[in-house]
Amino acid sequence: MLRTEIDGNIVQQADSRRPSSYTAVLGDAKVPLLHADPPYCLLVRRGKKGQRRDPKKAKINHSAVTRYENVAAYQRFTRAWLLPAADRIAEGGHAIIWTNLMGREPITRVAAEAGLVPHGHVLWAKLGKKGNVGERVARLYEVALVFGWTAPPALGPGDPAPPRHHISGYDDDGEAGDWQHHPNHKPMSLLAPLLRFYTRPGERVLEPFSGSGSTAAAALRLGRKASALELRQTWTQVSGERMAAMAQRDAPG
Ligand SMILES: C[S@@+](CC[C@H](N)C(=O)[O-])C[C@H]1O[C@@H](n2cnc3c(N)ncnc32)[C@H](O)[C@@H]1O
Repeated sequence: MLRTEIDGNIVQQADSRRPSSYTAVLGDAKVPLLHADPPYCLLVRRGKKGQRRDPKKAKINHSAVTRYENVAAYQRFTRAWLLPAADRIAEGGHAIIWTNLMGREPITRVAAEAGLVPHGHVLWAKLGKKGNVGERVARLYEVALVFGWTAPPALGPGDPAPPRHHISGYDDDGEAGDWQHHPNHKPMSLLAPLLRFYTRPGERVLEPFSGSGSTAAAALRLGRKASALELRQTWTQVSGERMAAMAQRDAPG
């Protein structure tokens, strides 16, 4: 099983449905932020006779993409990883969980089972290509659900408001291309405001679905610590190399 550890930042090849995976990257510790980008609630498509009818689009058939028989199966998957992950959220901490629009209900139901309270959501509208006169259409496909252990405190007049919307392209920062174009890559411009708002420098972020390592890279760049899990060897390796590159970039001298 692959593992990269640099200055207390860890990415480990492991299944986020196993409580022992969290121990491997956290020991007994709890974290102020669980940031999770799980596989989305995409369903298997079947023809009239029940045979699989997989869509032809390459991106959606990517090896990092999982399909579920129905929403109940997705909810079972969510329960398997979210309950042990929620156990690692410290008192006063938060969970941010990305999903497509169909995944909102099953995730919200399991979060409630874990005792988490909804704190609203973050909408990411993704910009398409330029049209004839330079216009770009923003398509809303992804949403992050935010939860805490207690109801969110009322904001005082001087309090910063939590980030709630973001509009950008899939790879405005040009990073996805450097790290093998994960189909669900999350850009730094999207992650940075969330990590800044929900953690302080030096605090640790837990990411149970590392993919190409965007969460760990953002955490390191912002002076936070990262503990990440990833099931697939290729993406664990990419995450580890990306973390090493980020640590090298920020090394003094
Ligand atoms: C939505 S993607 C994450 C993309 C990532 N945010 C990025 O920017 O590259 C979900 C990832 O979870 C991984 N995964 C799926 N099931 C898993 C499991 N049970 N445990 C750990 N990782 C899993 C997939 O291999 C995939 O890379």
